[in-house]
Amino acid sequence: MALLLPGGIATPGLVWKQRRRASICKASAAPSPDPAWRTNVVSERAARSGVEISRSIEECEAAVVSGNPPEAPPVPAKPKAPQGTPLVTPLRLSSRPRRNRKSAALRAAFQETTLTPANFILPLFIHEGEQDSPIGAMPGCFRLGWKHGLVDEVYKARDVGVNSVVLFPKIPDALKSATGDEAYNPNGLVPRAIRILKDKYPDLVIYTDVALDPYSSDGHDGIVREDGVIMNDETVHQLCKQAVAQAEAGADVVSPSDMMDGRVGAIRTALDEAGYHDVSIMAYTAKYASAFYGPFREALDSNPRFGDKKTYQMNPGNYREALLEVHADESEGADILMVKPAMPYLDVIRLLRDTSALPISAYQVSGEYSMIKAAASQGMLDEKKAVLESLLCIKRAGADVILTYAALQAARWLCGEK
Ligand code: PBG
Repeated sequence: MALLLPGGIATPGLVWKQRRRASICKASAAPSPDPAWRTNVVSERAARSGVEISRSIEECEAAVVSGNPPEAPPVPAKPKAPQGTPLVTPLRLSSRPRRNRKSAALRAAFQETTLTPANFILPLFIHEGEQDSPIGAMPGCFRLGWKHGLVDEVYKARDVGVNSVVLFPKIPDALKSATGDEAYNPNGLVPRAIRILKDKYPDLVIYTDVALDPYSSDGHDGIVREDGVIMNDETVHQLCKQAVAQAEAGADVVSPSDMMDGRVGAIRTALDEAGYHDVSIMAYTAKYASAFYGPFREALDSNPRFGDKKTYQMNPGNYREALLEVHADESEGADILMVKPAMPYLDVIRLLRDTSALPISAYQVSGEYSMIKAAASQGMLDEKKAVLESLLCIKRAGADVILTYAALQAARWLCGEK
């Protein structure tokens, strides 16, 4: 149940905090002390509350000074090692890092990176259908009906503190074209979905994808010339119109995932000229031409009709090249820089974190999600542990926020739910 403030506005963050507190309290409950020890504590407490005053502080101190200290639990016995354990002289070590890992409380105290549902952005697939339809290559994910399924899913996410979503549309083939004009139809699937979400949840943060592939009859992120070349500047022209249409519908952050040169600056100018100075840009800065996008393309039925995306997405062998993209996106006015995919590219996340002062996001993509799901369904991995570890490590590498299909499930786990 989402908590309602008097104004009727749901506050997922607050609900999350309260649940979290409950689970933290459970985890840190101390084991009950032994009964004799307890009696002393009880009578001292009774004395403090004035119910029964037994002895004064002076009397207690005098007893200790005269060599009659009160009873306390005995010094614990040294735990025995198993028979056959070799007898060795202790190593003379100036440091033993295991001391700080000795107990759950110490480990929690010294944990450098923590995950919270506020760090997650939940990608959602939407379609024109009224029912939700499962995505074969991504167990647990659905193409959601924009009117009902989408609204319900966002309710569930907010209930556990995930208040950011990014929308990906499955467009009917009949609306796809070589120039992807449906991308800026003000009454298209994405603008309609944004409007319905903003109507229900005004404080929801809505990210949108800016690229032509869901709308392109060629399945490419840009306009394809006769000879197969993806046309840069003409595509950027379309992307600007797409971004403005999304902003007009109420998007908070537009996210160009197309990898055309110069698109961040052009989109910034287009948004500003249309009066959307407050709409942010999350640039897919270091987006690699990756095999891990496979399941996503099945979900949107957006596989390139020919060739691959290597003339615009980055070569997985390249690291320094990410710096060129960082400098371009920063100077063109990006608000957030992204690395995608996430786990195979942790070094690139760290590079961006150390190079830029902007917030860094990382996209745990469809293939990363499906790998864990597939292994878990075969009993090869513990799904909960593997998912939470993967997200923690992406954050440790330097990501502030993570786009992940596991956001809802992971947030539930972080809230102590099953
Ligand atoms: C397309 C886009 C892709 C993803 C996000 N936006 C696929 C691609 O570049 O081919 C992939 C996300 C995923 O695999 O989860 N602009």
